[in-house]
Amino acid sequence: MITLNINGKAVQVDVAPSTPLLWVLRDVVGLTGTKYGCGVEICGACTVWIDGSAEKSCDVAVKEVVGKKITTIEGLSPDGASHPVQKAWVACQVPQCGYCQSGMIMKAAAMLRENKKPTDAQIDGAMNNLCVCGTYQRIRDAIKLAATL
Ligand code: FES
Ligand code: FES
Repeated sequence: MITLNINGKAVQVDVAPSTPLLWVLRDVVGLTGTKYGCGVEICGACTVWIDGSAEKSCDVAVKEVVGKKITTIEGLSPDGASHPVQKAWVACQVPQCGYCQSGMIMKAAAMLRENKKPTDAQIDGAMNNLCVCGTYQRIRDAIKLAATL
């Protein structure tokens, strides 16, 4: 049994230590807000926070995050909607199909903690997650709005 700290709660999972964190979050714990896209650390759909830093969970073995704080999209705000990035995402109507969006939000929220007034170039540099629907302009708008909320 492995004990993880997920969204502020201790969670016990019975998995092999090498199991990717993404698989554990989705298939074992049932937190399906985090998505599987490429599985090879390219698309960012699986982005969560590990000790506050945005990381791609598809390529992190669960044994590597024991004792660390894991935050998923479900734990970004207490009610699932009140984080400034979540509010800005709704205001700017960012999602299209939505598949990449939880990873985008986790990445954007982490970026805004480091840089409270990012420029377009800084946003483009930091936001290297992929969106097949091409929502990049709205993501830029929403990040700038979130910085003001
Ligand atoms: S599923 Fe992890 S980066 Fe694509
Ligand atoms: S909103 Fe469809 S992949 Fe990004």
